[in-house]
Order: sequence, then C-alpha cells, then structure tokens
Amino acid sequence: MSYLKLPILSETGFVIVDSYDQSADPREWDNLVYVDWKSSGDTRFAPLASAYGDMECDGFWNHTPPKTDKDGVWVDENVAIAPILTQRAKEFEANIGRCRVIELQPNTYADAIYNLHRDDNNRLNPEGTGWIVRAFFNLTDDQDSVMVLREDKDDPATETRVPLPAGAQVVIDTQRLYHAVWHPGNKPRYCLITSLESGPQLDEWIASRHPHVDSQAPDLEPAFIAESQGQAEAKRAARAAALAQQGKNPKFGDGTMAFAQDDEYGQEVMSEA
Ligand SMILES: [Fe+2]
Repeated sequence: MSYLKLPILSETGFVIVDSYDQSADPREWDNLVYVDWKSSGDTRFAPLASAYGDMECDGFWNHTPPKTDKDGVWVDENVAIAPILTQRAKEFEANIGRCRVIELQPNTYADAIYNLHRDDNNRLNPEGTGWIVRAFFNLTDDQDSVMVLREDKDDPATETRVPLPAGAQVVIDTQRLYHAVWHPGNKPRYCLITSLESGPQLDEWIASRHPHVDSQAPDLEPAFIAESQGQAEAKRAARAAALAQQGKNPKFGDGTMAFAQDDEYGQEVMSEA
C-alpha cells in the first residue's frame, strides 16, 4: 500500500501554474493575527486553518487527539479578516490541512541554503489516501526573491529557483524536495501556504492553470553559489557542534540533519519557506 500521488509532480516534485492577479486584492495579510513560532522570533505565521480552529500553528500531530495534516479547521478571527485569502484556499476543493500566511524577513542566499529542509507533511497520514503537498501563493511582489528547491540538500546542481513575484502560484511536494526562500528584499515577504491532499480535485486545479516547470530564474555565478554553500555548511557545522555540546543529536531519525529546524524532532521553525 502506498499513497495516491499526482503524476504531474512525479518528475520534478514541483509545478508552477498561472499567476494570480494579486494587484486587484487588498493586503488582507497586513491585518491578520500572527503568532510567533518557536524561538527564532523572525518568522511569524497567521493561521487561517489550524488543527482545531485555535490561533496557533503547531503540527496537527502535536495535538490531542493527534491528526494528520488534513481536515484543518478554519480560524474564525483570521478568516473574518481575510475572506479573499480564505476563498483562494477553498478554491482547490481538496482536503486542506494547515493553511497560514507566513511573514518572512529578508535573508541571504547562504541563509536559504542553511535553511533548506523537508516538511513532515504526511505523519499519521493513512496509506492508500492522498499524499499531502503544499501550495505557495506569493502575496507580496518579491521580484528578486526565489524559492530554492533541491533534490539533494548538499548538491547545488540539483537546485531549481522559482521566482516569487506577486501572484506566483507553485505546488510543491515539500516532503520530497528540500526548500527554503531566498528573500533579499528590505521588507517582509508574505505568502499563503496551504497543505493539500493529492487527488482529482488538486489535479484538476493544476491542470486547468497551464502547469509547467520552467522557472526562468536568472542564473547565479558559480563562485557565488560555492561561497554561499560554504557559508551555509560552516553554519551547519557550528550548529552541530553546539547541539553536541548540549548532548543533543543533530540528526533526525531518517538521517536528515536538523540544523535548520528546531531541536524537537519534526518541528518546523524559522526555516519554513
Ligand atoms: Fe517547509
């Protein structure tokens, strides 16, 4: 038994679809209620749907009773503030889990490489049901920002960078691809992130929006990539040493290095894209 996955994601793990006309909408995200997430303090989230409708962003499995990242419950206060964003999430007509707006502060390419991580989307997800992926709707017009995607976290040759102008819409298997955003602006970036169950509804949503994987991101100088990779690896090594000194194991159960995540297994933190 395995999971139902979308064939359109099988080769690359991500797909870009037609952009949304973001300029026509008000900046609903400016008025949302944001909650701090973990200790980094930099990145905040405004939940539109949470495990049980509370104003919090914890993994659904971290509740009583625990549940997989499906059947999210709308958070009334934020839904009332952001009816258009809520409607856009409902547009999938798929089962939705977590749905929230991220507020990401500016960072560097080296930061993004350091932050590369995979999501724990399918914990407790029953086999035979749809694999959970995520949709990213960029809200702010971050012309110079990119979603960094890698099949192999340590191999820049496996990297794709997806530009993030206002209205960009990308569906990503974030449990397969390492991901993080490089946001070199001077203002926070805002993006609507929705957990979605793979199935006919999501397939139809993608298929009707001219899906493609040609990101057309500008090339980066090889020397810049190498330098940033080195900076990220040095930071990871320092983090590993600090954790080891505290007697903590910097590896997840699957061997994935946990540097870009919090100390607790499976908890997402500031590195969230
Ligand atoms: Fe993530």
